[in-house]
Amino acid sequence: MKIEGYWLASGLLGVTASILRRIAENGADVVVTKSIGFHPRKGHPGPIITVSHGGLLNAVGLTNPGIEAFKDELALLKEWGIPFVLSIFGSTIDDIERVAEHALTLDPLALELNLSCPHAEISQIAHNPNLTHDYVRAVKDIVDCPVFAKLTPNASDIVQIGMAAEKAGADAVVAINTVRGMRIDIDQRVPVLGNITGGLSGPPIFPIALRCVFDLSRALSIPIIGVGGVATWQDAVEMHLAGASAIQIGTAVLEGLDVFKRIKMGVSEYLQQEGFSSVSDIVGLSWRNL
Ligand SMILES: Cc1cc2nc3c(=O)[nH]c(=O)nc-3n(C[C@H](O)[C@H](O)[C@H](O)COP(=O)(O)O)c2cc1C
Repeated sequence: MKIEGYWLASGLLGVTASILRRIAENGADVVVTKSIGFHPRKGHPGPIITVSHGGLLNAVGLTNPGIEAFKDELALLKEWGIPFVLSIFGSTIDDIERVAEHALTLDPLALELNLSCPHAEISQIAHNPNLTHDYVRAVKDIVDCPVFAKLTPNASDIVQIGMAAEKAGADAVVAINTVRGMRIDIDQRVPVLGNITGGLSGPPIFPIALRCVFDLSRALSIPIIGVGGVATWQDAVEMHLAGASAIQIGTAVLEGLDVFKRIKMGVSEYLQQEGFSSVSDIVGLSWRNL
């Protein structure tokens, strides 16, 4: 598959085929599903989401129906011809292998491994190069579709983790998942989220995502899929200049599904005005020029 275009990021707007279809009809080139595990999972106690500093803080806790129950939704996406990437997770290598085996029958464009949710027990995988390597390798050994590793900015050295994923055979890395954070209710004097801490997304994390994409892009040979705070075409251009071949959009879809069309139009006008013939001409240009 070609790593290009503007995709819906994992976890936003639920897990039903009908909403994913609406998002594709509104201009998303690919939709990434909510992360799916082997067993159904209830997630964290509420409140699971709050607004913060122009972004969102969430601790949903990987709520999902389990791969078996999700198959029907994916079969609908397939029937409707909607390009989808299936995001999966597992608390152990055995677990993620079992999900990947099931995923094979669903024929996704690619599997995105969520190794990095900051408020679930899997959060530690993408902090550790060896674990990252072993998870990616285990899935690569089972499937014949492309495999992406989704990384966390909470790791002390995201480049080491990206290199481990590349060494294990990842076809691309996705950067970044949410940034660990929290809020406190000053009237009740207790943490706002049921899980106490959560993951920050949206515009406040854009500079962090950009830095991660820039560093990864300089160090790796596989494509980088940029995600984190992209809301305008200017953000998208910056993300490409940092090194992203494709871009995922999450929190910004809550402001309106026209975000994909707005970004595409803006980027294409920018390319035309600046004399570039395609996005690939500007991927990583900011560090290639140094
Ligand atoms: C409510 C919510 C749920 C999310 N669920 C998932 C998930 O299931 N799997 C995953 O890999 N990322 C999940 N994410 C992270 C997003 O895919 C994305 O990496 C992050 O929000 C940064 O992008 P954004 O600033 O464009 O939202 C979730 C984010 C939000 C806000």
